[in-house]
Amino acid sequence: MTRNFSTIALLYYCLVVVSTYPTGAPSLACDDMIPAHEPTMATGHLPFHMTLSSTYYKPGSIITGSINPDAGHTIKGFLIQARADNGNGALTGEFRPSANKSKTVCGDNAKQSLTHTNNHTKTMVNFTWLAPTGKTKGDLLFRVTIVEVYTPGVVSIYWVNATTQIVKDCTNLSYTELYTAPEPCDILPTQTPPNIPFDPECGRTKGCSPDCRNDICTYLVTWTDKNDTVEFELSSSISVGTEDKYMAIGFSYDQQMPDTSVAECVTINRTFMARSSFNTEDYTNVLLKNETLGMTLLTSHDTDSVFYCKFQRIKYISNQAQYYDLNSNWTLLFATGRVVHGLKKKHKLKEISYQIVDFKTVDIVDSISHHDSTTTTSHNLSTPTTTEGPPSNVTWDPDCGVTKGCFPDCRTSVCSHLITWQDAGDSVRFVITSSISVGSNERWMAIGFSDNFKMPDTSVSECDYFGGNIQVKSSYNDGYENHLLSNDALGVRLLGSGVYGGTFMCSFSRLKSVAGEQKFFNISEQRILFFATGQMSGGVKQQHKYKEMSDGKVDFEKFGIPGSGEEDKTLIKIHACLMTVAWIFLSSVGVVVARHCKTAFPNSTIFKQKVWFQIHRTCMTLTFTCTAAAFVVIFVKVGGLSQISPSEGYEYTKYHPYLGIAVTSLTTLNPIMAFFRPHPGEKYRPMFNWAHWFVGISAHILAAITIFFGLNLEMAGVNYTANYMMVGYVGAFALVQLILEIYRRSRKNTAELGNLVSSQTYLLAKDKPSPNDTGSFQSCVTFVHAVMMLGIMLTLIAVIVES
Ligand SMILES: *[C@@H]1O[C@H](CO)[C@@H](O)[C@H](O)[C@H]1NC(C)=O
Ligand SMILES: *[C@@H]1O[C@H](CO)[C@@H](O)[C@H](O)[C@H]1NC(C)=O
Ligand SMILES: *[C@@H]1O[C@H](CO)[C@@H](O)[C@H](O)[C@H]1NC(C)=O
Ligand SMILES: *[C@@H]1O[C@H](CO)[C@@H](O)[C@H](O)[C@H]1NC(C)=O
Ligand SMILES: *[C@@H]1O[C@H](CO)[C@@H](O)[C@H](O)[C@H]1NC(C)=O
Ligand SMILES: *[C@@H]1O[C@H](CO)[C@@H](O)[C@H](O)[C@H]1NC(C)=O
Ligand SMILES: *[C@@H]1O[C@H](CO)[C@@H](O)[C@H](O)[C@H]1NC(C)=O
Ligand SMILES: *[C@@H]1O[C@H](CO)[C@@H](O)[C@H](O)[C@H]1NC(C)=O
Ligand SMILES: *[C@@H]1O[C@H](CO)[C@@H](O)[C@H](O)[C@H]1NC(C)=O
Ligand SMILES: *[C@@H]1O[C@H](CO)[C@@H](O)[C@H](O)[C@H]1NC(C)=O
Ligand SMILES: *[C@@H]1O[C@H](CO)[C@@H](O)[C@H](O)[C@H]1NC(C)=O
Ligand SMILES: *[C@@H]1O[C@H](CO)[C@@H](O)[C@H](O)[C@H]1NC(C)=O
Repeated sequence: MTRNFSTIALLYYCLVVVSTYPTGAPSLACDDMIPAHEPTMATGHLPFHMTLSSTYYKPGSIITGSINPDAGHTIKGFLIQARADNGNGALTGEFRPSANKSKTVCGDNAKQSLTHTNNHTKTMVNFTWLAPTGKTKGDLLFRVTIVEVYTPGVVSIYWVNATTQIVKDCTNLSYTELYTAPEPCDILPTQTPPNIPFDPECGRTKGCSPDCRNDICTYLVTWTDKNDTVEFELSSSISVGTEDKYMAIGFSYDQQMPDTSVAECVTINRTFMARSSFNTEDYTNVLLKNETLGMTLLTSHDTDSVFYCKFQRIKYISNQAQYYDLNSNWTLLFATGRVVHGLKKKHKLKEISYQIVDFKTVDIVDSISHHDSTTTTSHNLSTPTTTEGPPSNVTWDPDCGVTKGCFPDCRTSVCSHLITWQDAGDSVRFVITSSISVGSNERWMAIGFSDNFKMPDTSVSECDYFGGNIQVKSSYNDGYENHLLSNDALGVRLLGSGVYGGTFMCSFSRLKSVAGEQKFFNISEQRILFFATGQMSGGVKQQHKYKEMSDGKVDFEKFGIPGSGEEDKTLIKIHACLMTVAWIFLSSVGVVVARHCKTAFPNSTIFKQKVWFQIHRTCMTLTFTCTAAAFVVIFVKVGGLSQISPSEGYEYTKYHPYLGIAVTSLTTLNPIMAFFRPHPGEKYRPMFNWAHWFVGISAHILAAITIFFGLNLEMAGVNYTANYMMVGYVGAFALVQLILEIYRRSRKNTAELGNLVSSQTYLLAKDKPSPNDTGSFQSCVTFVHAVMMLGIMLTLIAVIVES
């Protein structure tokens, strides 16, 4: 990490002695960083190198660094500043002084530069810098002035404005920077400033599990073997104001939370207690029946934001399965958090020791820390992690509406799902938790962003769990079909995830927008929020089992709690009802009348046309009108040819749109043919009759199939009972046809034997009715048929409207 020093190395020989600054740089050096030793200038290679714990920061980050002289060089004095990497580079953040080694000067509260406290020769300088908690000033770099030699009146050598590499502002990264950042900005430390001193006894008389950089720790656990007890000291800098809090160490077989024996130090109404508890399999912590079992509190205090506890724990107590024996080796867990109404809340900080700890030794044990940016091997974020501490059930997040926006489905404090979001500058951090059972362990959850209450044209971020992995991906709803984006990692990054029993949790960040990506919506603008979950099979998402949407547009930069809304299905229902009226009732009646009722009312006419013809024509004209209207309505609704992702087990339903187009075409063709029909008796009349019949009957059969497919479409959401109505419809229709056909044949056989022509001239041909056929039977059956069809139509419409 040594940097190309864009430095002017300066060599000054002091002629006029300023009896100088053995206790640090004077304030007049704040701006130009030049010590007021008398100047003479020289240049050369800078004989120091500087290292930083991170080259990224965000509000509240902590960066530590050190300055190491090359061999043969030392440091007498120094002045370190963090300056914005632009223009005149404003001072930013503040430094934390290290006891007797450094102190702060300059800038706000005189904390924006770090300098030495004595003129001893130093072989190394460590510094700790805290990023501002409010608005950041963009990328920055550390500027350092180092005095190497200073003998008043004799010699002064120093180096001015040495700079470290640039430290990037996480809140102002470009898309590529954010997604190629080796240490993702999201997991930089945002803890309260650590100020626990490292215990020099560590590794000598005490075993320790610290999280320390330089000589400052965020927490420290030490242990000393006392024969049949172990003495523990816990220190942390957890800052929860004046609230009660706890520190706990867990003894675990693995690095997991469940099945862990816990020794804890808590304050309850500001009174310290040392207790024994146990983490059960379902991630709940329960106190042992005898809550002080084996524990003796020795000393404790809570001052100056250091929370400290010293207690002894008996190594082994017989017949206590939940009190683990410290003669064995364990993985050590450490956690701190708040205590509210006497109950421990979810930890704010949790650390897990890397190694198995033998409490008889005095080793220093490293820990894995999920907020640690200095560990270069970051966690594999693409695999499920349990560091967030899983909820056994989805519970209401008290931060909802306060620091987070939330889209919940909660009854009392238990939720079936909860989506929370927090603005993070360029991106929004989402956490989705769902306990909705989807009947399969491999499952997906997704949130969608849309401009309307419709599924099509929705930008989607999804969490897929299959093959033991959880991945977050970007996809898009093209019509009612969902497709992954060609770069399915676009703009999303998994932060944490887990599957705990029935609960699926996924936390990820999503960029607000990516320039030029039409299918990745800009969520700086308000959108309707969708939530859906379903199962996966062979890595492929199946139709959702559950879907919900917000009742209005959601501002992802605010902390709202939207209610849930509904997709407007009015147009789909109108389409379904029009088609039902057209094909279940009108066309059924029209077809039967034309086929079987030509002989009825032989002497009556309506508007100079035969009764049967008028009924047929009216029915069929209305059928055409309804079909055309329904066709237009559905095109308006889906905005084009509907791409349907079929419901599970109903793959055939995806043909509904194509069948619908076929039906509509045939329905349009028939009246056109009828308009140009040859007159009765003309040469082509039989051919017309046949074609008219064929087109009509094809349309009718296709329409019935299409309606059946349509009723099973996911997007229609029609109740399953509609299928029984369709079965009833087909049955009734077939029965009536059968009865009338048998009757017709029997009449024909007796009355018009040998009249072969009639069998081809079903419909419009003006067959001479047989003299003794008054058509009353047919009229009667047809009437009954019409009533049945009307009944089925009305029931079906009722089911559709109700769904
Ligand atoms: C260090 O500073 C003290 C005054 O505080 C001075 O007397 C002494 O000479 C200085 N030592 C060196 C090596 O500069
Ligand atoms: C050091 O940097 C500061 C801030 O950029 C600048 O104001 C100052 O003039 C520089 N000093 C020298 C000696 O270049
Ligand atoms: C730090 O300074 C204090 C007085 O300011 C002194 O009592 C203490 O011994 C010093 N510690 C070290 C390690 O020099
Ligand atoms: C953020 O970055 C852009 C370019 O990457 C830069 O122009 C802008 O000044 C930066 N903002 C701040 C506050 O530094
Ligand atoms: C600086 O920190 C390193 C480890 O981070 C430590 O080894 C060294 O002793 C520290 N130096 C000073 C002067 O505190
Ligand atoms: C440790 O305890 C055992 C008995 O429990 C005793 O015999 C032994 O002397 C003790 N050792 C020390 C160093 O106290
Ligand atoms: C709890 O355990 C301690 C020993 O650790 C014992 O002294 C105390 O009597 C026990 N209390 C109860 C109620 O059993
Ligand atoms: C604990 O670990 C040490 C090594 O650190 C090993 O020598 C010892 O046998 C282990 N003890 C048990 C009970 O496994
Ligand atoms: C803490 O104190 C309050 C009132 O002072 C009391 O109501 C409450 O029960 C106490 N809590 C516990 C756990 O003792
Ligand atoms: C992270 O997980 C992926 C997929 O499971 C795997 O290919 C990769 O090797 C893992 N990386 C590390 C550092 O464990
Ligand atoms: C979680 O929910 C299930 C079913 O609603 C219930 O049986 C169980 O007790 C709940 N667990 C917790 C820890 O609330
Ligand atoms: C996203 O929307 C915001 C607010 O309307 C706008 O300022 C920003 O430029 C948009 N981003 C892109 C990439 O279009």
